[in-house]
Amino acid sequence: MSEAMPVLEVRGLRKSFGAVDALVGAELICPAGEVTALVGDNGAGKSTLIRCITGVYPPDGGAIAFKGAPIGFASPTEARALGIETVYQDLALVEDLTVWQNMYLNREVEHGIGPFRWLDRRRMIAETEAKLERLLVNMPPVRAKVRRLSGGQRQSIAIGRAASWGSALVIMDEPTAALGVRERGAVEALIGRLRGEGVAQLVISHDLEQVMRISDSVWVMRRGRTIARWRTREVDRTRIVAAIAGAEG
Ligand SMILES: Nc1ncnc2c1ncn2[C@@H]1O[C@H](COP(=O)(O)OP(=O)(O)O)[C@@H](O)[C@H]1O
Ligand SMILES: [Mg+2]
Repeated sequence: MSEAMPVLEVRGLRKSFGAVDALVGAELICPAGEVTALVGDNGAGKSTLIRCITGVYPPDGGAIAFKGAPIGFASPTEARALGIETVYQDLALVEDLTVWQNMYLNREVEHGIGPFRWLDRRRMIAETEAKLERLLVNMPPVRAKVRRLSGGQRQSIAIGRAASWGSALVIMDEPTAALGVRERGAVEALIGRLRGEGVAQLVISHDLEQVMRISDSVWVMRRGRTIARWRTREVDRTRIVAAIAGAEG
């Protein structure tokens, strides 16, 4: 594995919900400029691991380090302030707001840019255009309401927004599960571009062809434990499937 300056490092993470041991030994390393894929069957603990990293759940044991320093995130807000952004399956965009308004949603306080005042409008529109134009293949009009956009455009905006605030780590839970082939391609192109910009990306995906296409490394979870990890170029789909099913590790 590449051990050069991991942005995120998880060691021996444990988390139980009553009698359910959701995590019993989760490991993960996400280096800068790499796409790290996290795979495993339903119930393997992937979402719980992400929620521990992003401060939604406090872990029961183990360690999480961000840029080499141990962290104990108390809340998602705290994780975001450090530069950890999450894009969930159910997109967190507001349909009745425009693209640029969504870009700035909930950022006023954190970044000290003031609420939506008409004086700032021009600047926010221009900045949204500049930030997204660099990343998106088919840039929608930034003044368009989100409800008018396709699923792929929405997902691209959500990812673009996550990556646009100095984020060091962008986490995506099934980013293309709801998309058609062409829209999936656009989102994968965006992921590739962010990779080139040095962002660390953690992608949960059930689509192993996609994992093979976009990731630098693959981490397999089974029953709350990390049971295998590979550089993607050194593994094939069959071995990943076997590991997910418990035939390896
Ligand atoms: N909030 C919760 N309360 C109780 N059990 C939970 C909770 N979240 C997850 N679990 C359980 O933890 C295990 C791991 O779930 P999850 O992290 O969602 O797996 P995955 O995302 O890999 O499908 C499952 O058995 C699930 O039912
Ligand atoms: Mg899940």
